[in-house]
Amino acid sequence: MQFDKPATTNPIDRLKVVGKPIHRIDGELKTTGRAIYAYEWHDPNMRYAYGYPVGSAIAKGHVTSIDSVAANNAPGVLGVVTTLDVGDLQKGKLNTAKLFGGSEIQHYHQAVAVVVAETFEQARAAAHLVQVEYAPEKGRFDLRVELVNAGAPDPSTEPESSAGDFQTAFAAAPVTLDAEYTTPDQSHSMMEPHASIAAWNGDEVTIWTSSQMIDWWRTDLATTLGVDKEKVHLMSPFIGGGFGGKLFLRADAVLAAFAAKSVGRPVKVALPRPMMMNNTTHRPATIQRIRIGAEKDGRITAIAHESWSGDLLGGGPETAVMQTRLLYAGANRMTAMKLAVLDLPEGNAMRAPGEAPGLMALEIAIDEMAETLGMDPIAFRITNDTQVDPENPERPFSQRDLIGCLKLGATKFGWDEREKPATRREGDWMIGIGVAAAFRNNLVMPSGARVKLDRNGVVTVETDMTDIGTGSYTIIAQTAAEMMGVAMDKVAVHLGDSRFPVSAGSGGQFGANSATSGVYAACVKLREAVASKLGFNSADVVFDNGEARSGNRVIALAEAAGEDGLVGEDTMEWGDLTKTHQQSTFGAHFVEVGVDIATGETRIRRMLAVCAAGRILNPITARSQVIGAMTMGAGGALSEELAVDTRHGFFVNHDLAGYEVPVHADIPHQEVIFMDETDPYSSPMKAKGIGELGLCGVSAAIANAIYNATGVRVRHYPITLDKLIGGLPEVA
Ligand code: MOS
Repeated sequence: MQFDKPATTNPIDRLKVVGKPIHRIDGELKTTGRAIYAYEWHDPNMRYAYGYPVGSAIAKGHVTSIDSVAANNAPGVLGVVTTLDVGDLQKGKLNTAKLFGGSEIQHYHQAVAVVVAETFEQARAAAHLVQVEYAPEKGRFDLRVELVNAGAPDPSTEPESSAGDFQTAFAAAPVTLDAEYTTPDQSHSMMEPHASIAAWNGDEVTIWTSSQMIDWWRTDLATTLGVDKEKVHLMSPFIGGGFGGKLFLRADAVLAAFAAKSVGRPVKVALPRPMMMNNTTHRPATIQRIRIGAEKDGRITAIAHESWSGDLLGGGPETAVMQTRLLYAGANRMTAMKLAVLDLPEGNAMRAPGEAPGLMALEIAIDEMAETLGMDPIAFRITNDTQVDPENPERPFSQRDLIGCLKLGATKFGWDEREKPATRREGDWMIGIGVAAAFRNNLVMPSGARVKLDRNGVVTVETDMTDIGTGSYTIIAQTAAEMMGVAMDKVAVHLGDSRFPVSAGSGGQFGANSATSGVYAACVKLREAVASKLGFNSADVVFDNGEARSGNRVIALAEAAGEDGLVGEDTMEWGDLTKTHQQSTFGAHFVEVGVDIATGETRIRRMLAVCAAGRILNPITARSQVIGAMTMGAGGALSEELAVDTRHGFFVNHDLAGYEVPVHADIPHQEVIFMDETDPYSSPMKAKGIGELGLCGVSAAIANAIYNATGVRVRHYPITLDKLIGGLPEVA
């Protein structure tokens, strides 16, 4: 099905099941430990062996030799596969860094060997006996140094986008801001480590893994192993979080496949937590310069956002300027990005790549500008709202209710009680509140599904869509139930299997809208199959209550299915509506913090998110996405930072002791409000993404609240107490 005209009324609009607060259909499996994750697959007929990876101890250079004699002779060891053994491998299309194979080392903890043994403990013990010799080379590890080395770091000479004449307008503006902001390297740090089991059957391999994107992995794994894609079977039905870290094929799957081939048994490989930060990808650090010029009445006349980031050769920049092209009005504008080549681990997508770090900077800048203008920061944002793409004013937004989010949030949060910076005290706590706009583009991806109706009236959905903790199972079941007019307990959903139709997968907050649209398309086919079998006119048949009705004929779906059942299969494809209309999601984040006047320690006290993101398919799973994202934003604001050893080129704090993500005690009361919205331009579901929007702007709202509490403006994340303490009052 091609979606190329705005949606009109369709069966989803009945909202008997879609839009309802239905608990996760996989919730019981998860809370009772019966949901099987990658490393846990267990077939009693298989004799699993355990692989333990060895990571490179240098960041750049070559492996000159690997001595695995001692490891091979260790108790229980079945074999050692080294990067030299397998030789150069063809890299998958989507990885920048190579995962395994050959002598070249591109980054620290790149996999150089996997040791296979009867038990995990034996494999781990033997892995420490592998002797790797290196010829190290000098690497580039310091973002700022490399930018300077790369010449004058002024990307404005080659803007990414522009309109009007920024330089002239900025020079003429009566009120201006020109400031630099930085965000550090961040780690996805999902709960479930990267893990895979590989089992060969002749020349075919089955991989149980933890992947957000089944088909991307399957394609790249086939390339890397040098086998036909048809011979690679991937299973990833449950995933313990990904955040972008599991978008692209990872080393555990490659190592498991080579190890299993080598020892002739199924092999399990998980990346140990301390190997994850340097072996996999991360959100790259940014240095951002923002310039804003405005009239005295607050109207922006000039806005420029430049971002510098680093990546391995062949990688891309962190697109931190994206939201600045669309969020605020202003006739004269410019965005630019510059990439420095670094020999750190691969920088790549992490939840809301681009907008998340971009808004960390932009929404502080907006707060600063409002203060300079003597305006309330909400009023300043409202003054500069735009209903059209400011770079291409003939393109309207399909929906845009940023103003509604800001106003409703202000009322609900008690914005009126906000005081001047550093004036509100409760005992030792300096109290402040802050706000930031949330913005994330709404992407759509082709998505396929197969829907079967059986003789018991049960509807079974099959798609290679994944559920990374987001609620895919549930919203897909809701979609099928709504389309076929059956109760939720008459729907079964099977995901994450490469034998199923290729879906959007989970990424870029496109999963929910795209994958349910694919299910919608498949259900349209199944409805036609039912109608045709019954001799009904498919245009006037009504599916409700487990029955198909046309005129005065009513037939139970179970009966319509007959002994053989019926099947509908289709893929949702997308026309030009994302080009004619700018599709984005909006919101506003409100935060109250307390900062200890003596120690500079920040405690978040209250958080509120108001989101305008099209139809909310399920308010329980959507809220869960947003509160999780707000929690991630708290980590980004206050604690998360991969510390770079710029001498040797690795992330020093590469475990969860050193890389601090928020825990329950860090997170206070969180509230989420969804605006009542449907977007007919987005899909037949009229839904959009929500999972990344929830993160966008959170950290800046926290930074702005800290400023309001203390009067100390910190432009460099994370906002740790050392950055505050010098600015706190002398006498507590
Ligand atoms: Mo997302 S960073 O596309 O998983």
